[in-house]
Amino acid sequence: MRSKNCGELRSQDVESTVQLCGWVDRQRDHGGVIFIDLRDRSGTIQITVDPEQGKELFKKTESLRNESVVKVKGKVCSRPTESKNPKLETGDIEILVDELVILSQVQGTLPFAVSIHDEEPIKEETRLRHRYLDLRKARMQKNLQLRHATIKTARNFLEKEGFIEVETPILTKSTPEGARDYLVPSRVCGGEWFALPQSPQLFKQLLMIGGIEKYYQVARCFRDEDLRSDRQPEFTQLDIEMSFMEEEDILDLNERLIITIWKKIKGIDLPRPFPRMTWHEAMNRYGTDRPDTRYGMELTDTSEIFETSKFKVFSGAIAVGGSVKCIKIPNGNSAISNVRIKPGGDIFNEAQKAGAGGLAFIRVRDNNEIDSIGAIKDNLSSSQKEELLKKTKAKAGDLILFGAGKNEIVHRTLDRIRQFIAKDLNIINSKQEQAKWNFLWITDFPMFEFNQEEKRLEALHHPFCAPNENDIGINKKNWKDKLPKARAKAYDLVLNGLELGGGSLRIHQSDLQEMVLETIGIPMSEAKEQFGFLLDALDLGAPPHGGIAFGLDRIVMLLTGEESIRDTIAFPKTQQARCLMTEAPAKVNEKQLKELYVSSTWTSPE
Ligand code: AMO
Repeated sequence: MRSKNCGELRSQDVESTVQLCGWVDRQRDHGGVIFIDLRDRSGTIQITVDPEQGKELFKKTESLRNESVVKVKGKVCSRPTESKNPKLETGDIEILVDELVILSQVQGTLPFAVSIHDEEPIKEETRLRHRYLDLRKARMQKNLQLRHATIKTARNFLEKEGFIEVETPILTKSTPEGARDYLVPSRVCGGEWFALPQSPQLFKQLLMIGGIEKYYQVARCFRDEDLRSDRQPEFTQLDIEMSFMEEEDILDLNERLIITIWKKIKGIDLPRPFPRMTWHEAMNRYGTDRPDTRYGMELTDTSEIFETSKFKVFSGAIAVGGSVKCIKIPNGNSAISNVRIKPGGDIFNEAQKAGAGGLAFIRVRDNNEIDSIGAIKDNLSSSQKEELLKKTKAKAGDLILFGAGKNEIVHRTLDRIRQFIAKDLNIINSKQEQAKWNFLWITDFPMFEFNQEEKRLEALHHPFCAPNENDIGINKKNWKDKLPKARAKAYDLVLNGLELGGGSLRIHQSDLQEMVLETIGIPMSEAKEQFGFLLDALDLGAPPHGGIAFGLDRIVMLLTGEESIRDTIAFPKTQQARCLMTEAPAKVNEKQLKELYVSSTWTSPE
């Protein structure tokens, strides 16, 4: 249908006859001559039709509406000097048309302007409802091309390293990654359900036991969880697993993979090796296991100072096993008013959202005088004050914000406030900081964390991560006692405060696997029912193995500079886990439900 693409024509094509197809980006009538910007994936070019080329052709062109699809045949001509457009790569030339065929005329009203000349922001809801129009725009075209290039680079790299891509089932059994499952009723096996995979975790382990040795997959995963800008119910992992490799080998391979992607896509040479931090250090310094290390404002533990304080909020928290920690905001006194940190203020609200009961603060004034609410100021001895200033290295003008209570809440609060203030004060956006790609490996995660609600241990990553041998020893008799406090051979890759990927060495002995499942309260009978196939396979020659999964949508989000992974996915879902275009999920008819042996207990809130 076409001999060339619109965007690839240049002055050297002048005099040649070409046939082009594309969308009418815009049509302008300039006193008898009609100009069309014709657009395809490669770019746009000006098409010129004047009445001398025939009445019928001219009339047809006049009738064209923006976004109609046409095929044109004509001659490439040089534009007169005064009408050259230096902003367009094809701006020196135009096509003088002999023939024009309307392949598809736009009928209704366009919900929004698609033209490359139109940069008006469009509501996301409108974009998603008419995603096929949104995809025609430069932003989504660029993002999807970059996504493709990223996947291709990863595939090339992994294939050179000896990995093969293997697909794993979508209709499967639940994999415990911590979210709710999407379930699919089976018509053939009445009363039974498939679960869509939260990740290919168990299958990739079984592929290792199956002798594949080096596996990868661009794998679709499904998780029914609360959504945010970096989470979708249906997302894509770059999923990797390998046998006979130590943790160091795996980290090395993955660093090289990431470096290759950043070089190819951004032209950036990332320094190696990536820094590493243990989970413990990350929690103590930043209150989170995915710290943004592009800026400071680290946490200081001031529990020792306030242990004996008469300010009961502090000493009380420590007395029951909690802590008092703080962050210092340099020059925070002028930047942040009391209104913002007192009840009702935006920073106070952030603390509350993280579960804090309040937000204590201290302002450091000239001569190291301390300003705060009376209950703190009056109960702070001069040695405590001195110690605090020494520990936080606070100077006149600095603001110190405190979290007091259970460690978990203190960490969550100060992490949230640290991020909020960094954004608010534009600390990350200085030019030099923006250029930083702060990759960081977080290692040595605990195997388990305590679930307060259910009063039981649960796996921090998933229950297939191998424990560190140094923590459990070689004597199997001690494993049961030692496991709960053991570290896992697990690692996450964090970039600028976002978790890009996570993985671990896996358990490859069935007795250890059974014990880990028991530790999180899954008795053998239940384990056999849920993962019997894995436990059996572990007994039939399982090689030591491990791997990782990267959030592909997140990688593309960072590479494109977008703020939401929705802008990296062709047809994403909203925060309510809906597709606005197809209107899925949708009701189904009773007959379908009956065939599936399903009836609904749902009642409308009205
Ligand atoms: P994990 O659960 O950490 O590990 O997931 C790996 C990576 O997938 C991305 N991710 C998501 N991206 C978008 N939307 C979501 N809802 C979502 N959930 C997770 C994150 C995350 O780092 N089986 C293990 C991997 C392994 O051990 O090899 C797993 O799935 O970037």
